[in-house]
Amino acid sequence: MAVKDRILILGPTGAIGRHIVWASVKAGNPTFVLVRNTPGSNNRVNLVKAANPETKEELIESFKNSGVNLIEGDMNDHESLVKAIKQVDVVICAFGRLLIEDQLKIIAAIKEAGNVKRFFPSEFGLDVDRHDSVDPVREVFVEKARIRRIIEAEGVPYTYLCCHAFTGYFLRNLAQIDITVPPRDKVFILGDGNVKGAFVTEADVGTLTIEAANDPRALNKAVHIRLPNNYLTMNEIVSLWEKKIGKTLEKTYVSEEKVLEDIKEASFPNNYLLALYHSQQIKGDAVYEIDPAKDLEASEAYPHVKYSTVDEYLNQFV
Ligand SMILES: NC(=O)c1ccc[n+]([C@@H]2O[C@H](COP(=O)([O-])OP(=O)(O)OC[C@H]3O[C@@H](n4cnc5c(N)ncnc54)[C@H](OP(=O)(O)O)[C@@H]3O)[C@@H](O)[C@H]2O)c1
Repeated sequence: MAVKDRILILGPTGAIGRHIVWASVKAGNPTFVLVRNTPGSNNRVNLVKAANPETKEELIESFKNSGVNLIEGDMNDHESLVKAIKQVDVVICAFGRLLIEDQLKIIAAIKEAGNVKRFFPSEFGLDVDRHDSVDPVREVFVEKARIRRIIEAEGVPYTYLCCHAFTGYFLRNLAQIDITVPPRDKVFILGDGNVKGAFVTEADVGTLTIEAANDPRALNKAVHIRLPNNYLTMNEIVSLWEKKIGKTLEKTYVSEEKVLEDIKEASFPNNYLLALYHSQQIKGDAVYEIDPAKDLEASEAYPHVKYSTVDEYLNQFV
């Protein structure tokens, strides 16, 4: 059997990082993580906590029990970063939205180490070269796109993972603000509810990221996760939920103008969530044609992956 690439995950204790670690272990890739010697944060946003209940301490214990190689370090400590990178073939960064620019330090360390076959910068959202989003998310996407251009200019081999909407942030609340389970009485639908969005569980993002890491066809490509059963409009999702609970919800359709006002008036995290929902549900940022010269559609490239459907995901809340 061919020897599998060694994979280093940066940001392994974050919302998506943990799933990439578990998927890497499951796929049989020797798995390495860089962890800071700091306590886990207690003030995580409710939705994030509901979607990712494990604490940092529990995660580290689970990594140890799964045979993950833990490397203590910090991205601000260049030596520790280079040392970690030298031990692996593939580097996957899952830093959060406030650390996108800090990936310049990773790129510098990858260049110095000189051995990396593939770098996945922290993306894990829509395609940052194809969107029509507004602030506060726009500035993050612009920064992610700038990191892409630097990677390309530096000649670092890459894969960009465009997975669209995590179920934990877009589906468990049916894209409503201030709740962590689907509503049972009324629902606000942004726009006319007829724009297709792409939904995926965080566990499936992990699996498909590792598929791409092990796939030479994904070298210097963007991999797009728009799974056929999960490429749905909000009207379709609400109707699916109504059937499950045997009840019709009171629906309020919110105009784009009102959504933009709400984004301006809200504070974090609601302004950020609303801007994400606006991008997918009003601007249609998950609707585009791929370019085979630079893109791979995950469902076509990895048809053997059995993914969780939106329908199955919602069952846990009935
Ligand atoms: N598509 C979607 O629906 C969606 C939703 C959410 C996020 N995302 C995207 O997914 C990506 C990851 O976001 P996330 O929310 O999963 O991230 P996150 O939860 O904020 O995780 C950040 C990770 O970075 C680590 N970290 C922070 N500072 C560090 C340092 N100085 N040195 C080393 N590690 C450090 C943290 O470690 P500690 O535990 O030590 O703090 C943690 O493991 C982002 O690009 C984000 O935009 C997409």
